[in-house]
Amino acid sequence: MSALPSRVTIVEVGPRDGLQNESATVPTDAKVAFIDRLSQSGLTHIEATAFVSPKAIPQLADAEEVCNRIARTDGVVYSALVPNIKGYGRATEGAGLRDVAMFLSASETHNRKNIGCSIDEAFGRYREVADAAERDGVRVRGYVSTAFGCPYEGNVPIEQVVEVARRMLDLGVQQVSLGDTTGMGNPAQVMQTVAALAEHTPHDTIALHLHDTRGTGLANALAGLQAGVTTFDASTGGLGGCPYAPGATGNVATDELVYMLEAMGVETGVDPEILLQSAEIAGEAIGREPPSRYLKATRATQARERKENA
Ligand code: COA
Ligand code: ZN
Repeated sequence: MSALPSRVTIVEVGPRDGLQNESATVPTDAKVAFIDRLSQSGLTHIEATAFVSPKAIPQLADAEEVCNRIARTDGVVYSALVPNIKGYGRATEGAGLRDVAMFLSASETHNRKNIGCSIDEAFGRYREVADAAERDGVRVRGYVSTAFGCPYEGNVPIEQVVEVARRMLDLGVQQVSLGDTTGMGNPAQVMQTVAALAEHTPHDTIALHLHDTRGTGLANALAGLQAGVTTFDASTGGLGGCPYAPGATGNVATDELVYMLEAMGVETGVDPEILLQSAEIAGEAIGREPPSRYLKATRATQARERKENA
């Protein structure tokens, strides 16, 4: 195995990616409780919500209220998705965020279904957002969705992913996160894609946003790690999906990723028990147990130990 980094950064996307796809409407109180617990876990980056059209994603219609009610903790960066300048204004002026993320897809069909325009048009909208952010000193992250496969178009050529990611970086984003929106990617593809993009930009400007739809999530994360990536998006409890990507399920579970990384000697700075408590808060709010296997295994082990010690 090639040398692994000593430390990685995890961007927690559960409150946004995790909750946006739930059919149950999660009360604002529960979202705030979820994020506040996550803020105590040692995570340094939490994507709290999205300032998108409430018609597109009704689950996140309370974005301003969530951002204004959470207990912002020193050392934690709170960010949100913005699809256009309107979303940017809501996030910065309405909710006082200093970090936003723009998003588009590497494939035309998914881009159109998700944000209602072509990739070129999306870059036009994001030019406006990037200019405003530069003026305001707001940090911007970029997502390239469907980077490892499109639910409508199938295979997405690596050259196309690299081109869209480079255009995103050219807008001035600090980091581009390659999204495996429907979990179609495999470890060899992750290695090749990261290597191809890393010919144009430093490794620390590349992040991976992996979904575990087909069970390849952690394997893909390990491949990314070996390819030099040190930032990973993940969702506590494995909540998540994309409403415009049929069949998409949860992100890689933050708690499973932390377990794997820490066991291999890669530091995350995150307390797994607090992640599990956060997952349980979210699970209660959505009315089902989060899919994380680390959660199930840990709680089962603890129950057995309690029984043995009783
Ligand atoms: N926040 C709130 N409302 C917004 C908005 C935003 N960021 N952007 C647009 N709107 C409103 C407009 O004001 C308009 O409202 P009206 O009908 O009451 O006049 C309406 O939405 C349509 O605006 P338009 O600019 O024509 O946008 P659209 O209908 O083409 O939708 C997006 C484009 C990007 C706003 C929409 O597709 C969207 O929010 N997509 C997000 C999808 C997503 O979050 N996917 C999951 C993440 S991967
Ligand atoms: Zn996602």
